Amino acid sequence: MRHLLSIADLDRDEIERIMELADSFAEVGRRDIKKVPTLRGRTVVSLFYESSTRTSSSFELAVKRLSADLVSVKAAGSSVDKGESLRDTIATLSAYEPEAIVIRSPHAGAAQLVAQWTDAAVVNAGDGKHEHPSQALLDVYTLRERLGALDGKQVWIVGDVLHSRVARSTAQAFTKMGAAVTLCGPPPLIPRAAAEALGCAVTYDLSGLGEADVVYALRMQRERMAESFVPSLREYVANYQINERRLGARQLLMHPGPVNRGVELSDDVIEHPNSLITQQVRNGLFVRMAILYELLAGGERPRGAREQGAAEAAVSQPIGEPA
Ligand code: NCD
Repeated sequence: MRHLLSIADLDRDEIERIMELADSFAEVGRRDIKKVPTLRGRTVVSLFYESSTRTSSSFELAVKRLSADLVSVKAAGSSVDKGESLRDTIATLSAYEPEAIVIRSPHAGAAQLVAQWTDAAVVNAGDGKHEHPSQALLDVYTLRERLGALDGKQVWIVGDVLHSRVARSTAQAFTKMGAAVTLCGPPPLIPRAAAEALGCAVTYDLSGLGEADVVYALRMQRERMAESFVPSLREYVANYQINERRLGARQLLMHPGPVNRGVELSDDVIEHPNSLITQQVRNGLFVRMAILYELLAGGERPRGAREQGAAEAAVSQPIGEPA
């Protein structure tokens, strides 16, 4: 794996490999000393042009747990505020010779562009409405931990699919792992062509929700809505909110966060025993450690010749002793 730009670039075996690596890093997370020397001496740039709590904190902690050096830049407060372009910002940060750049941008395709401008491995931490592949991988990991294989499982993704990069990545990842995905929400928020391209079923009401093994709720992304897509939030809540009445005893609940409490989820289901929301955040750290490991030490290294021996040794023994 050279970059992580899109789930479309990964096949099932590559996803499985990241899952196995994440298992090893979860084991490290259970140790007293949770830090390993695996990426010592490497530099990772984290560049966030959009708000983030979970994704930025987990990537940053993942870098630190792997003993790499971190340069963290947020658009607000950086020279981006002064009008510096993405290309110039990448050129500036490339002066530190980072091995990886983790980027979140409001523009679809931004991570792909950055990959053309740098030698570093690029991780797409969300590009507009396009993709959020590390979220999809942590979601697969979380479900796999609970259900074992995803083959034949029914996953319903409910809510604002139109504006959701999470839905675009997660639907692909679940499908690649053998699950059947249904997209559900108000018609203006369900892009039919995209659903077909993703191989997902579409429905506009929750009447068949009982068939779902997993209910994956999405945030209403009001910041991306230039116009009104639903008549009122009250109507949305009445028709699509996942609450204790709608969530069956055997159904698992997921949400990428942040949750609009009382909109897509009622308070009572957020802390429900079937809710995997906290688990998703916890696993995000292990899966992002696995992604960074795979990109920087996992074989197809960008600067092939450099430290080749060390990279190969690391592959055979990925975790090593505590740092
Ligand atoms: C999501 C995002 O930013 O795409 N959050 C996340 O990364 N966990 C989903 C959202 O903002 O609704």
